[in-house]
Amino acid sequence: MAKTKIAFYCQNCGASYPKWQGKCNACGEWNTIAEEVIEKSSPGSPGISRASSKNSAQKINQIDLKEETRISTRDNELDRVLGNGIVPGSVILLGGEPGIGKSTLMLQMVMQLDKKTLYISGEESLQQIKLRADRIEGKQDTTYLLAATNTQKILHQLENEKPDLLIIDSIQTLHTDRIDSSPGSISQIRECASELIDLAKHAQTPVILIGHINKQGSIAGPKVLEHMVDAVLQFEGDRNHAYRILRAQKNRFGSTHELGIYEMEVNGLRPVSNPSDILMSKVDVNLSGTAIAASVEGMRPLLIEIQALVSSAVYGTPQRTTTGYSTKRLNMLLAVLEKRAGFKLAAKDVFLNITGGIHVDDPALDLAVVASILSSSENVPIDRKTCLAAEIGLAGEVRPVQRVQLRIAEAEKMGFDSIIISQQTEKVTSPTKIQVKRIQTINELVDLLF
Ligand code: TYD
Ligand code: MG
Repeated sequence: MAKTKIAFYCQNCGASYPKWQGKCNACGEWNTIAEEVIEKSSPGSPGISRASSKNSAQKINQIDLKEETRISTRDNELDRVLGNGIVPGSVILLGGEPGIGKSTLMLQMVMQLDKKTLYISGEESLQQIKLRADRIEGKQDTTYLLAATNTQKILHQLENEKPDLLIIDSIQTLHTDRIDSSPGSISQIRECASELIDLAKHAQTPVILIGHINKQGSIAGPKVLEHMVDAVLQFEGDRNHAYRILRAQKNRFGSTHELGIYEMEVNGLRPVSNPSDILMSKVDVNLSGTAIAASVEGMRPLLIEIQALVSSAVYGTPQRTTTGYSTKRLNMLLAVLEKRAGFKLAAKDVFLNITGGIHVDDPALDLAVVASILSSSENVPIDRKTCLAAEIGLAGEVRPVQRVQLRIAEAEKMGFDSIIISQQTEKVTSPTKIQVKRIQTINELVDLLF
């Protein structure tokens, strides 16, 4: 009889230890190491052989590329984030909080495709998926459903069905016979994923793995999973807002800067083709504390409304609270305002909010953030036909940002009269209807706005 083998794995990063300890040396987390039973079956058992027969080294120029035929998902947002469709044989991990819409996104995508797809669900029954499929419009004749959690059974089914695309919902529910620990444990996730990755590379069938994320926002299970797959997509959003954002955290075949935006409706997710429209509130009156930033995510311009509220601090320590923006960055900008422009904000509470429930890192937001804070602090509204795009340095200087042309074009398209950018910005070519104002320091911003 095979001897039971036991190992200890960190449930956060996947590091293994011969015996239990309180702290993981690899990632520094406490209380994450758990015992797992591992019992490899004897060699020669079913499963895919790891080494392919013709496994000799080749020169790069001798490798023949069958012309790259990416599978378009027929969903512009998803295609953009993936870098123009799914690469054959690639493995994509789609992560997100429970209930955000991962299963809906995938089911909706496969029902638009002309390709034969196998959708494996370990979480919902076939009837539940059918109910969901009826809610979302789409073809139902190319998608095969299977409720299964055992990878051997899945691999067997794959050999029979030979689909063009495989969806696994979710990786945390799978288990393989080759290992004894419970589904969802590190060793199971890792082994199941590697069996599926072998399959994808071998049969050139793309595989999409759906994964849950934990409270810290990382994909529950080992980080090693993120290293093993070709692309990691993150589906995020505020459950109280209907908008959902799809981002690539890693993409071996495309950029990680692209962004997909969806709106959750009663009959599935609707791609949002003009995001600037939704990210700005529709009020017509000029309100103080609001400024509009011309931002760019990847190659996609987004006009974002920033709202600030500055009020006298009630408690000894003033509060700095942000939604969708980095608090550190806000603190830095407040320090610059205090030191370089002489505004006394040290005894004020400052609240900052990016509307629409999205999170943006673009440095070009700086100028609009500062403008919204000044507008709220002085109680003077900023003209709603003006938008801003520049970074602010520690000396209070206004710095140029990338892709200014794109930002100006979007602002013009959305009907803005003027855009404020840095003096140092390179020449803006095409003659535009919109007025481009250039400034060098935040003091000039103050003169320009108030
Ligand atoms: P789901 O895809 O099950 O989320 P996940 O797989 O990420 O856990 O999405 C569930 C939510 O989406 C649920 O709260 C209901 C909502 N929903 C809609 O609003 N409209 C729809 O058409 C569908 C299918 C779901
Ligand atoms: Mg789901």
